[in-house]
Amino acid sequence: MKILLTSAEVAPFAKTGGLADVAAALPFEWEKFGQEVIIVMPKYAHIDTYHYGFHPTFKIVYVPMGYWMEYGHIWQGTLPHSNVPVYLIENNDYFNRRGIYGDPDEYPDNDRRFIFFSRAVLETAKALNFEPDIIHSHDFHTAFAVAFLKSQYKNDRRFSRTAGVYTIHNLAYQGWFEPGRAMNFSTFGMKEFYKGSWFEHKGMVNAMKAGIMFSDKITTVSPTYAKEIRYPYYSEGMEDVLNLRGADLIGILNGAHYGEWDPENDGLIYCKYNKDFLQGKLRNKTEFLREMGITEEDEPGLPVVGMVTRLTEQKGIDLLINKLEWFLSNNIFRFCLLGSGEGRYEDYFRYIGWKYPKRAYINIGYSNKLAHRIIAVSDFIIMPSRYEPCGLTQIYGLKYGTVPIVRETGGLADTVKEYKGETGEGNGISFFNYNADEMAEAITRGIGIYKSEKDWTAIRRNGMGEDYGSGSSALEYIKVFRWAMS
Ligand code: ADP
Ligand code: GLC
Repeated sequence: MKILLTSAEVAPFAKTGGLADVAAALPFEWEKFGQEVIIVMPKYAHIDTYHYGFHPTFKIVYVPMGYWMEYGHIWQGTLPHSNVPVYLIENNDYFNRRGIYGDPDEYPDNDRRFIFFSRAVLETAKALNFEPDIIHSHDFHTAFAVAFLKSQYKNDRRFSRTAGVYTIHNLAYQGWFEPGRAMNFSTFGMKEFYKGSWFEHKGMVNAMKAGIMFSDKITTVSPTYAKEIRYPYYSEGMEDVLNLRGADLIGILNGAHYGEWDPENDGLIYCKYNKDFLQGKLRNKTEFLREMGITEEDEPGLPVVGMVTRLTEQKGIDLLINKLEWFLSNNIFRFCLLGSGEGRYEDYFRYIGWKYPKRAYINIGYSNKLAHRIIAVSDFIIMPSRYEPCGLTQIYGLKYGTVPIVRETGGLADTVKEYKGETGEGNGISFFNYNADEMAEAITRGIGIYKSEKDWTAIRRNGMGEDYGSGSSALEYIKVFRWAMS
């Protein structure tokens, strides 16, 4: 099968969250299963082309935009530890800027940037003579690629048999575009924009809706999220569209790329370990506390609750704000955060770091190395998300023997099972309602388990024994691709 995957983020080249991890893990697995796969993504200014061995191909793509043509240069490289070709589309007007989506605010021309890119994806396939069986788009940024595939390009013989599959990673970001601009840039024209058209939602162009409507099959990143988004609380206003396409919508649980995220082979942490060598995990914690300047008198035995996250409302930071100081001022745990995002949350955590220098380690920023370290050194990883389409951090936490404390929603509900002392089964702690008291009770249950050696060993060994690898997820996608092609 020939698969073209396109995404605004692909790890390790450009990443803000889990989308990048998934967009890299799937092609990596598909290639191992014998599929022919290529990745197409924008060439952002911060991609280290030298380090990753990208080179210009001197192939140019011409992209119709409204009444004129624009162009991009194709660069070529490979996905690390694989032979999967990665093509970067260079257009300096659009992508030679800081960040992926904006810095710090969204760029006002993101409609134009991503419509250009989505069309460049099809032109790239043409320029490379790659006739895909599947075009697999992710989130709103590349949603227009399936819309183009099923309209302007459907009579092109190269694409006449190509199926379009669209994966929703997060419904909160839909790509609401001003119709006059988006319909023009996309060359569909205003004639295609009317109430109820496949581009229109609540009076705006909605790229997510176009992705959902034009694709042959739609997936999202966990079975529970696939059910939740049929209802208004989780659908971000899209339940009508999702129910309309309900027969073609399924949830496939994300998998972890254990080549990158396994404490047994992780070169970024202080000391490698596995479930039969949990002393190694303790060594990570000790080393980290030493770096933080924590000494014997500072109670090194306290559990560390860690968090590695985008700081947005989705992640349940409001629940933590309600309870964190109480736990810290009563010496119940240490807190360790790596995150960046909304200013109000960044400021709150800076304040916590200043007020509890021995209890809270706060790093506002983005660092892959620190992300690995915090997951390895922490005893718990907390994700009290308001919603969570899948969540990868808890899956990494499980593998690292770092017990997840999560709200039971989306992929968190599909991966974390409450630990039961009586049976010794379960891999984490969860709570159901979006409520700070319930979260605090869950944390307290976790601390209880931490204090019982038998339970603490069992819960961690259970988690580390789980297999949420990307292999099975990649196979599920192949089944959906066959379904889409049929
Ligand atoms: P989301 O995609 O909603 O952000 P996920 O849990 O699916 O949530 O994925 C988050 C990914 O981004 C993980 O790989 C996590 O390690 C990484 N990540 C999040 N915040 C940071 C940060 N500040 N620095 C480094 N990595 C981060
Ligand atoms: C989104 C979701 C997250 C998911 C990730 C990868 O960013 O917020 O839950 O794990 O995409 O699919």
